[in-house]
Amino acid sequence: MHGVKLSGVTKAFGATNVIPMMDLHFDEGEFVVIVGPSGCGKSTTLRMIAGLEPVSGGQIFIGGKDVTWAPPKERDIAMVFQSYALYPHMNVAGNMSFALRLAGRPKDEVANRVRKAAELLELTEYLDRRPRDLSGGQRQRVAMGRAIVRDAYCFLFDEPLSNLDAKLRSTMRTELAILHKRLKRTMIYVTHDQIEAMTMADRIVIMDKGIIQQVGTPRAVYNSPDNRFVAGFIGSPSMNFLEAELAGSDELRVCGKGFDIPLSPKLRAATERNSSREVAIGLRPEHFSIKGAGGSQSSLFAPINLTVDVAEYIGSSQFLAARIGDQPITASIEVGPDSAPLESGEYLFDTNRMYLFNRKTGAAIA
Ligand SMILES: Nc1ncnc2c1ncn2[C@@H]1O[C@H](COP(=O)(O)OP(=O)(O)O)[C@@H](O)[C@H]1O
Ligand SMILES: [Mg+2]
Repeated sequence: MHGVKLSGVTKAFGATNVIPMMDLHFDEGEFVVIVGPSGCGKSTTLRMIAGLEPVSGGQIFIGGKDVTWAPPKERDIAMVFQSYALYPHMNVAGNMSFALRLAGRPKDEVANRVRKAAELLELTEYLDRRPRDLSGGQRQRVAMGRAIVRDAYCFLFDEPLSNLDAKLRSTMRTELAILHKRLKRTMIYVTHDQIEAMTMADRIVIMDKGIIQQVGTPRAVYNSPDNRFVAGFIGSPSMNFLEAELAGSDELRVCGKGFDIPLSPKLRAATERNSSREVAIGLRPEHFSIKGAGGSQSSLFAPINLTVDVAEYIGSSQFLAARIGDQPITASIEVGPDSAPLESGEYLFDTNRMYLFNRKTGAAIA
């Protein structure tokens, strides 16, 4: 179980400390997505793993071998970049085989590997075409093919889909997931798009300002975010945060201007251990509902007054731009396709799906 390991890795560009300290382990065969806002250090992390950027401190291991100071070609990795410039004068087969031919591999072997990769990526019938005669998605597959022919121990992807349109991106996401199932190689995929992270990853690494905020399965980071940053970053539309105070001793409640919500038993127990009374409540848009709608068995509904500014009809649900007291929130409410536009009034919120964060530190209280 070697995989890829970063041990105490740091990176500074001059006086700018981009990665203050990173410890991270990718299991062999795992598909891990590193996600975070632009400029948080994702590409830098990937480039250090690839050997394209030296570390300022710490060690990197690939397949159990210390490769901290090894050149890229000795790391048994293949990388796909955002800008996947193909050689315009070479056909698909030429593009895919380029690195192997450069490395002086025997002709039979090169042909064999290209054939296999082309089959895997469904490019067999395009092998003779030039890049300009391919669609965007096919070009992206050729870029993947160039990496796959090398059959590396670990594949690194740096936002490879961000130049594609939305529909193609979603197709390619599925294709990549299938590819990973077939190849069973360690894949490290960098993106700023949390949907890509949620749909493809075995585990997600969420970064902000060079610091890992949480590592976990898509379910874990969505359901149990460690802090306010993760809670706000994962999930679409984003989680709502309301400033509130903890009040009452027997029956703890959270109060703010215009609302007063009882706490679930779980949150009540957790708040007793929390010293700060100033909290941010986290409410996901999808956990609001209209009265009379059935919840799951674990639901514990509390009434909540919404002032609706805009109700957008999007088919089976309505999307509300609203306010609770004086604080803006968004809600996504399932109502069915025949529903009238939703209006201000009393809605329900599932208090078992409410989050509390320490307002000062951002840490999750429960
Ligand atoms: N070669 C470089 N020289 C100086 N600063 C750099 C260099 N490469 C990246 N940076 C800085 O490091 C930070 C992280 O960059 P990057 O890893 O590209 O972020 P991301 O990929 O998450 O968008 C940014 O502030 C960026 O400006
Ligand atoms: Mg980047």
